[in-house]
Amino acid sequence: MRRETASSSKKKEGLGWIEWGRGWLCLIQEMLFQRIMASHLQNPLPLPPVNDLTCIVTGSTSGIGREIARQLAEAGAHVVMAVRNSKAAHELIQKWQNEWSGRGLPLNIEVMELDLLSLDSVARFAEAWNARLGPLHVLINNAGIFSIGEPQKFSKDGYEEHMQVNHLAPALLSVLLFPSLIRGSPSRIINVNSVMHYVGFVDTEDMNVVSGKKKYTSMLGYSSSKLAQVMFSSVLHRRLPAEAGISVLCVSPGIVQTNVARDLPKIVQAGYHLIPYFIFSPQEGSRSSLFAATDPQIPEYCEMLKADNWPVCAYISQDCRPTNPSEESHNIETSHRVWEKTLEMIGLPSDALERLIEGEEVTCRYGANCE
Ligand SMILES: NC(=O)c1ccc[n+]([C@@H]2O[C@H](COP(=O)([O-])OP(=O)(O)OC[C@H]3O[C@@H](n4cnc5c(N)ncnc54)[C@H](OP(=O)(O)O)[C@@H]3O)[C@@H](O)[C@H]2O)c1
Repeated sequence: MRRETASSSKKKEGLGWIEWGRGWLCLIQEMLFQRIMASHLQNPLPLPPVNDLTCIVTGSTSGIGREIARQLAEAGAHVVMAVRNSKAAHELIQKWQNEWSGRGLPLNIEVMELDLLSLDSVARFAEAWNARLGPLHVLINNAGIFSIGEPQKFSKDGYEEHMQVNHLAPALLSVLLFPSLIRGSPSRIINVNSVMHYVGFVDTEDMNVVSGKKKYTSMLGYSSSKLAQVMFSSVLHRRLPAEAGISVLCVSPGIVQTNVARDLPKIVQAGYHLIPYFIFSPQEGSRSSLFAATDPQIPEYCEMLKADNWPVCAYISQDCRPTNPSEESHNIETSHRVWEKTLEMIGLPSDALERLIEGEEVTCRYGANCE
């Protein structure tokens, strides 16, 4: 497995507009050519044996997450649907069990409540899961929002909602679940990211976009949260010793027809539905996450990347090939600031990771004590 090299990865002063233009080109390229780029892939993606895996999939009541959960369960994994709408998840399980009946053992799938708009809910989820003292092999941080055209909103924790749901809450969940991920090692954290991170911009002094330095738009909120996730994941990946046995990856699902566009104006939605050739189905959009979660070469590839000078985590594109994330995500200084700022915002001490790896107890402002 080889990642495209980025000779241009050295961040130079004054390239902002060029990078931004390149970012938009990547986005347009993905929209127009993703089907051609992924034409070598089967749909659904054939999965290796996963009977021994326990996987948590956030946001699995809809779109890409729903496909990931169903396919992993049908391939034999123990799947935990981590969702805010438990009723919808139970109804889905019932439907999948009915469709599956007669094809093998009943699906091993359960529901746990998780609302990423509440960091308390994240901490409660992690506490409940860690209390089982069982292994966790794959955490798929899939749940996300893109409130297109909506005014700026804040969670009850005081954070801009895109930043909280798409980056802060998954970061807290990943760190708090470390004890279980170590028990399940070799294990993986998969962050369902987006090609939109190429046009993102993170100001660690203004994570909520309230200073007025940049005008808030939902596009800025979404793309910045996705870039922050790549930067945080890269530092996490870099700081994890090989002995911990945890791989950290980001993936791009492609441009996928899901409920994520629910806030688009009706007229734009109509256009979106008229171009099915360009847009992936959720099943097609689930392939990069499923590949990252199950391909046997992933741990070795992630370890190999640590030898790079630039601390960037593995990034799997919609066609299941390793790719290079944006120029800006290679900015070491900003990545480290994002790491520190994120830990501060999610209420964890700066040495939380090292202490958890050592098996020590870490107290989080949001009430989780993990060992
Ligand atoms: N679709 C695309 O073109 C595209 C492109 C790039 C990246 N992505 C990323 O792919 C991921 C999945 O999105 P999707 O396209 O499948 O969208 P979707 O159909 O809207 O699904 C999003 C899922 O996230 C859940 N969710 C939202 N807010 C939550 C919260 N506060 N707590 C817990 N769960 C929450 C939703 O639950 P409810 O059903 O309860 O709302 C839903 O299950 C996201 O991270 C998105 O950014 C999508």
